[in-house]
Amino acid sequence: MAHRTIVGIDVGTTKVCTIVGQVYDNGRINVLGVGLTPSKGLDKGVVVNIDDAVNAIATSVEKAERLSGYRINAAFVGIAGRHIQSLNSRGVVAVARSDHEITRHDVARAVEAAQAVAIPTQREVIHVIPRAYVVDGNEGIRDPIGMSGFRLEVETHIITGEVMAIQNLIKSVQKTGVEIDDLVLQPLAAGEAVLSADDKDRGVVLVDIGGGTTDIAVFAQGGIWHTSVIPVGGNHFTNDIVIVQQTPHNTAEYLKLKYGAAIAEETEEGSDDVIDVEGFAPGERQQISRRMLNQVLQARAEELTELIYNEIRRSGYEGLLPAGIVLTGGTAQLPRLDELMRDMLGIPVRIGTPADLTGLVDTLNSPAYATAIGLLRWGMRHGASGLHSGSAPPEHSGWISTYERFKRWLKEFLP
Ligand SMILES: Nc1ncnc2c1ncn2[C@@H]1O[C@H](COP(=O)(O)OP(=O)(O)OP(=O)(O)O)[C@@H](O)[C@H]1O
Ligand SMILES: [Mg+2]
Repeated sequence: MAHRTIVGIDVGTTKVCTIVGQVYDNGRINVLGVGLTPSKGLDKGVVVNIDDAVNAIATSVEKAERLSGYRINAAFVGIAGRHIQSLNSRGVVAVARSDHEITRHDVARAVEAAQAVAIPTQREVIHVIPRAYVVDGNEGIRDPIGMSGFRLEVETHIITGEVMAIQNLIKSVQKTGVEIDDLVLQPLAAGEAVLSADDKDRGVVLVDIGGGTTDIAVFAQGGIWHTSVIPVGGNHFTNDIVIVQQTPHNTAEYLKLKYGAAIAEETEEGSDDVIDVEGFAPGERQQISRRMLNQVLQARAEELTELIYNEIRRSGYEGLLPAGIVLTGGTAQLPRLDELMRDMLGIPVRIGTPADLTGLVDTLNSPAYATAIGLLRWGMRHGASGLHSGSAPPEHSGWISTYERFKRWLKEFLP
């Protein structure tokens, strides 16, 4: 079966993960190499120190190269952060051909027209995602090509980010000698790894709870309707423990990973509720109540669930998401977080783990790697745009490359 070798780099707040994989037509990925390293120079998903970020990315890339024996020249790179915004926009064109048959060219023009919305100068478009078409007032058409009509409208989801944040990420990657095939919004990448076409048709929310941020993407009718970033992640859970339990950060993280849960249970009479851990001073011991620990985590989990609920409501899709919530990101592994969310929101909640992997997969079968794995699937489905490459294309060819990009999009989004 046909495959391509694709590289994804997930530059997260807590980890950088580079994956080299052979991606097959049917979505299966044979992982050739993985480079995992603690992240540096990022805050809440955004590069704040280029030198530190470059070092971390370079380490991760080198590891993946060594393991795979593959020289990494270019990669699909995830982007996130509070600076990301999204909007829905319609583009309208008159069908060009005299016999009124709609062509790919009309579709590309309509998508182009949808981008005519005012994008502030300090923002840059990351994605323009066609979702559905309207032909002469008939809504909900997924593939208008070959149909007849006078007027073609497209509904798109446009995702923008701040130019500086985008440039700093691009710079950090390019300084390691790796070109960028394309930037991909992290929750869209994660969605590629853990959502089925059926989930997206029925209506589903992808919620990636990482270290620094929680990224949200709402899918319905097969397309993307809403994306947003909440600046709360697993680090906040850890910091709450530091503050409330007065422990060093390392101890707090250890307590969270080893004993944490998002639901604090009444301790049974006589059961062992006390955890003995290292304190601040060398040799000092501290006793922590397990139930207290989990009360801290539960409070934060409830707050985060409310923030997620607010975003779902803002999307206008509340009550229209029968497939519920799919959780990814390292924090999705916090025991009983899914249960808490299910209880609070009354919709299905499941943990999304990347599937259909072969090769070096020991560590990758975890929701924390959904974004990195998803980048490879995204790359397979959409191809490289080159739009974010270092050398700017000549002025007049800009539209051509955009058009080429849409042709790829169309191949993907139309059946
Ligand atoms: N078993 C676990 N239980 C609870 N939390 C966990 C577990 N494993 C990892 N985490 C938490 O997951 C977080 C890291 O998640 P992830 O690797 O998805 O982050 P990231 O991609 O680097 O960050 P971001 O996407 O926010 O930029 C950390 O806060 C870590 O403490
Ligand atoms: Mg992440």
